[in-house]
Amino acid sequence: MTNADLIARYDGRVPRYTSYPTAPHFSEAVSGATYLRWLGELSPATPLSLYLHVPFCERLCLYCGCTTSVVRLEAPRRAYAELLKSELRMVAAALGHRARVTQIHWGGGTPTSLPVDSLMQIMALIRDLFTVPDDAEVAIEIDPTALATQQLVALGEIGLNRASIGVQDFDPAVQRAIGRVQPFDITQACALALREIDVPSLNLDLIYGLPRQTIDGVIRTARQALELGADRIAVFGYAHVPWMKRHQRLINEADLPDANARFAQRAAIAKVLESEGNYLPVGLDHYARPDDSLARAMTSGQLHRGFQGYTTDAAPALIGIGASSIGCLPQGYAQNAPTAVAYAAAIEAGRPAIVRGIELSAEDRLRAEVIERIMCDLHADLGAVAAAHGADPAPLLAAANGLKRFENDALVQFDGTRIDVTEAGRPFVRNVAALFDAYLAPAEAGPRHAGAI
Ligand SMILES: C[S@@+](CC[C@H](N)C(=O)[O-])C[C@H]1O[C@@H](n2cnc3c(N)ncnc32)[C@H](O)[C@@H]1O
Ligand code: SF4
Repeated sequence: MTNADLIARYDGRVPRYTSYPTAPHFSEAVSGATYLRWLGELSPATPLSLYLHVPFCERLCLYCGCTTSVVRLEAPRRAYAELLKSELRMVAAALGHRARVTQIHWGGGTPTSLPVDSLMQIMALIRDLFTVPDDAEVAIEIDPTALATQQLVALGEIGLNRASIGVQDFDPAVQRAIGRVQPFDITQACALALREIDVPSLNLDLIYGLPRQTIDGVIRTARQALELGADRIAVFGYAHVPWMKRHQRLINEADLPDANARFAQRAAIAKVLESEGNYLPVGLDHYARPDDSLARAMTSGQLHRGFQGYTTDAAPALIGIGASSIGCLPQGYAQNAPTAVAYAAAIEAGRPAIVRGIELSAEDRLRAEVIERIMCDLHADLGAVAAAHGADPAPLLAAANGLKRFENDALVQFDGTRIDVTEAGRPFVRNVAALFDAYLAPAEAGPRHAGAI
C-alpha cells in the first residue's frame, strides 16, 4: 500500500480530539446554573487549571482558525480585562473554598494585546483568590510581531515559565500568502528575549499545508526552527475551514497543497526535527526534546490532551475564563459565549457566560479515556481501561472490529485487547481514535472538521 493509497483511504474529516465528546456535540442542556452547581461540588482537594482567553489581535492572519478579532483601541481591551477579573471572582465565589491552581494558560488571540497593567492585575488577582504554588506552570501564547519591551518585562514579573511562539513558516512567499509577515530576525529576537527573562520552556508553532508551501521550503523552515533551540515544536496541519472562518476565503485554494503534498510536508518536517534536531515525536503533532517534561510525560504514560493540544497538565478541573473558553470539570464541559459582546453582557449582569456544554455519562468517560490514550500514547488496552472504569468492555470491543482495515494496512496491531498504533499509523491516529467515538455519525463526515491529513 503506497502513501497515496493510504491517504485516499483515510483522508476523511475527523476531529482532533482535544475533547471527547467533541464541541459540536455540546448543547444548551448545560447552562450557567449547571456550571455554578458543578463548581460548588468540587472538593477543596481538587487542583485547578485556568485557561484565560483573549480574543484580540493586531491583524487577522488569513489562515487563523482561532476565536479572535482585530481590536486596536485600548479601551475595549482594558474593559475586557475587567470582565476577566469579574469572572474569576464569580468562579472563586462559586467554589466556596480557596482552591489550588497548578496551571495558568493565557491563550488567544493574542494575550499580550491586553494592557500590561491589566495583565499584571489579573495575575495578582489570581494569586489573591487562589493558592498558586511556586512550581505552578504559567504559560502564554506569543505573536513575536506584537510584543513590546515593556510587555516582556511584565511577563518576567508575572512568573512566566512557558511561552509558545507562533511561527507557522519562515518563507517570505508563504508569509505573504497567509497575511503574516514575520522575518526570522524578529522571531529569533523574541526567543532570545524570552530566554533572557528566564523563561525555561519555549515552544514554537509551525504549520504545514499552507498556500505556497513546498517540501524544500518546509525543510528550510524546520532547519531554521532548530536554530532557535526550542524545547517543543508543534507542527499543525493547516485546517482550512472557510465555512466557519470566513476570512480564510481570502486564501487562494489553488495555492493550497493537496493531501499527498501535505502528507509529504509533514513527513519532511518530522525527519528534520527527529534526525537533525533530536526531537522525539509526541502524539499526532508535537515534537519535544527528550529532557522536556512533555517527552518525559509521554514516556511515563502521563501525557494528556486538552484544548491546547498535548499537555502535562493533570489537574482534574480546567476552568475556562473569557469569551469562547471551554471549562472541563469532572462532571462535564461548559463553554462561554463565543462573542465578546455576548460574554460581556452576561458577566456585566453578574451571570456566568456559559451557553452550552455536555454532562458526561459513564460511557463518555470510558470512551474519552480510550481516545485520550490512543491520541497520547498511540496505544490503549481496552480491557484494562474498561476494568479501571468498572465497565463492560463489550462496546469497546465492538468498536474495535473497525480496526481490521487498519491492521491490514499495517497502521495498527491489535491482540484482542491492546491496540498499538504503528509508526506508519501515527499520521492516522485520529482515524483510529474515531472508531471509539460514539457521536461520530456518518453525517458528521460533512464540513464540520478539517481533513485528517
Ligand atoms: C491561538 S494561536 C495564538 C498564537 C499567537 N496569536 C500567534 O499567532 O502567534 C496558536 C496557534 O494556532 C495555530 N493555528 C491557528 N490557526 C490555525 C489553522 N487554521 N490551522 C492549523 N493551525 C492553526 C497556529 O500555529 C498558531 O500559532
Ligand atoms: S494566528 Fe495569532 S495573531 Fe494571527 S489572527 Fe490568529 S490568533 Fe491572531
